[in-house]
Amino acid sequence: MPKVILSAGIGLALAFRAFGAEVVSLDTERTSLVFETGDSPEGTRLYLRHYGARVTDKSSVCRTAWRSESSSEVGYETPTAYTAFGDATGARNTFNGYNPYGGLAVIHADGCLTSDLVVERLERTDETLAIHWKDAFYPFRATQFFRARKDADVIETHVVLENGEASAVRLPRMASLTLAFPLVADRFSVQTTPGQWTCENQLAESELARGQTVSIGSRSGVRGAWGSNPSFMVSIGGTADETSGNVIGVALCWSGVWEASVRRSHTDFLEIDAGACNCAGPYVLGPGQRLELPTVALTYSAAGKGRVSRNMHRWARRHRMPHGTQLRDVVLNSFYATGFGFDETSLLRLMDGAKELGVETFVLDDGWFGNGRYARDDDRRGLGDWTVNGAKLPRGLDFMCGEAKRRGMKFGLWVEPEMANTNSEFYARHPDWVLRERNRRLRVGRGDSQVVVDLANPAARNEVWRQIDAAYASVPDLAYVKWDANADFMNPGSPYLAADRQSNVFFDYAAGYLDLMRRQRKSRPDLTVQACASGGGHTDYASLGFCDEFWASDTIDPRERVMIQWGASQFYPAGAMACHIAVDPFRKVPFKYRADVACSGRLGVEMKPTDLSEADRKFLVSVIADYKRIRPVVQQGDLHRLVSPCDHDHAALMYVAEDRRRAVVFVYGLSRQQRRDFPPPLILRGLDADARYVVRELNMPVKATSHARLADGKTPVSGEALMTSGLPFVLGTADYDSAVFELMAESVR
Ligand code: DGJ
Repeated sequence: MPKVILSAGIGLALAFRAFGAEVVSLDTERTSLVFETGDSPEGTRLYLRHYGARVTDKSSVCRTAWRSESSSEVGYETPTAYTAFGDATGARNTFNGYNPYGGLAVIHADGCLTSDLVVERLERTDETLAIHWKDAFYPFRATQFFRARKDADVIETHVVLENGEASAVRLPRMASLTLAFPLVADRFSVQTTPGQWTCENQLAESELARGQTVSIGSRSGVRGAWGSNPSFMVSIGGTADETSGNVIGVALCWSGVWEASVRRSHTDFLEIDAGACNCAGPYVLGPGQRLELPTVALTYSAAGKGRVSRNMHRWARRHRMPHGTQLRDVVLNSFYATGFGFDETSLLRLMDGAKELGVETFVLDDGWFGNGRYARDDDRRGLGDWTVNGAKLPRGLDFMCGEAKRRGMKFGLWVEPEMANTNSEFYARHPDWVLRERNRRLRVGRGDSQVVVDLANPAARNEVWRQIDAAYASVPDLAYVKWDANADFMNPGSPYLAADRQSNVFFDYAAGYLDLMRRQRKSRPDLTVQACASGGGHTDYASLGFCDEFWASDTIDPRERVMIQWGASQFYPAGAMACHIAVDPFRKVPFKYRADVACSGRLGVEMKPTDLSEADRKFLVSVIADYKRIRPVVQQGDLHRLVSPCDHDHAALMYVAEDRRRAVVFVYGLSRQQRRDFPPPLILRGLDADARYVVRELNMPVKATSHARLADGKTPVSGEALMTSGLPFVLGTADYDSAVFELMAESVR
């Protein structure tokens, strides 16, 4: 019998006792992940016995964990910790005992369709676990890595595949996470955040009945958060709410094509799979090649969905995002102010206005590049030619940066490196460096000329980076980049990849995109980078591994934004959520409401300050000044969602500083009805019951009356009262009334 080797740290390898019931686990502050080894004719298996609340006596948990004694699931008994199609698992494998599902599927070089993974070795430290799987017959390996981020109650996991066979294997499925565990309840539901252009991250929840599977994914190829955001929650034992219920949260860190599913077998277990996928055809992995599959972040909460969000936010800030614990500037982005039609003079005027408002970073959006017949004067041309447009900006980008600096602001630039126009020097020189199919008409996107650069091709990638790097280098003090991407694959073929590797384009493109992101971050570690893709298309934790924020949506209508930001907040922290105040012709909404909605994320402005009335301009100056004071709480605090816009005619949320001395509460009226003009008091959360807080209303236009009598800025009330009888408030009878309250514990004042 082979032995499982349990290594504790590098170099310290100790042979554990013969397998049969080895218990291997990882803990965070509040959660445990517990595996147990088991014997089989092919070798050692490893089973997931528990993922949930932290447990101390792991052996007992393994003994009590439910396991199939009389499975009726197509002959399949107990799924292993990394499930593969064909695994012969469990003692009853004489009875049709193979896994007909599995997150991994390998077609071996000789055509064999099944895998049968056994554990060769385990490596363990206090915070990490590596499970070395090998096929019982073929030299094909999968190493599954886990890392516990204890302070955030998050476990990261990813898998590396290695093809040791003599020729290529094909991978129809290649999940990074296959969390299959025995049922511990009889009701389950899945919350997802589907979305598209201008309606990202809308909440959706479905119950999962016996024998059902909920599947989500994105097929865009570029905007991997469209279709559905690559994150979801699974409620175990009835649908959880914000404060109660057992919930697993899963965030797949991938920007390309992906799929995830939650499958409840008829009798035995629940399997959560998530990973990259290939739309059409398997991924082909050559002999001797390795494939690193994307990371998945996993969390568990016994206190509802709110804690899942807070765990993910903390993880993102402390462990995932490059500068996650730093405060973000107030930005003015030029797009809605100028479109493509600007010159030096109009930009300088915009800068003057931005400075007067108190803006800290000025970002020049689309339109600054391309020359001659490829000048980017509209969206039909220029993408791919990343040199400054001499007609619009004769003194160059560095001059503009200097002008921003002279006004006390930093300078940022928009780029769209993943794209080209067929009207560009880039395309004229390299028509084969864009995604296309040999025998089909080239489909084009935005501006009837946009195509996607073939980032699976290293030469194309190098050229894109050479140009982008040179553009950045021409502005030594460049502080900010908005990285955009405005198309889906459209032509799913890579002229670079061989005929028998075409289906690799989905994975290799995304890996190429992340390679560019990595180069950008490595070359300019201090740059603030916004992940944008027609709005929220790059809202994912692969992008946010290299970026500091995401553009939540091209929708700047605040009523829509309440929903979008609510959905995005399920997994993404407020400090990373770019929320700009703009004037939108779509809906007439009070300026205050626009400001209040934007202030609950990373605040920015997207308009010409000169278009504002004097009263609105003064109001905005005070909003920005106050935002700078509350931003440590908003951007770094713990989020508590209080009243959902999905089932009320108003929404409310609050942020509480980690030390609980400060908090900020936001209330947004939606479609108001007369008979519901009297919302109940807001029962606040997360405060220190023993502290006494002074409440003050912010963002008050001149002559406005306060929305809460307690918010006089003077009379302290206890945290206990605010969390039991609540903060009474009123909303006006008109639609779109809103309020912002700042709370400070007495000692802070
Ligand atoms: C789409 C983005 O989401 C917008 O903010 C803007 O940058 C445009 N692209 C520019 O073309």
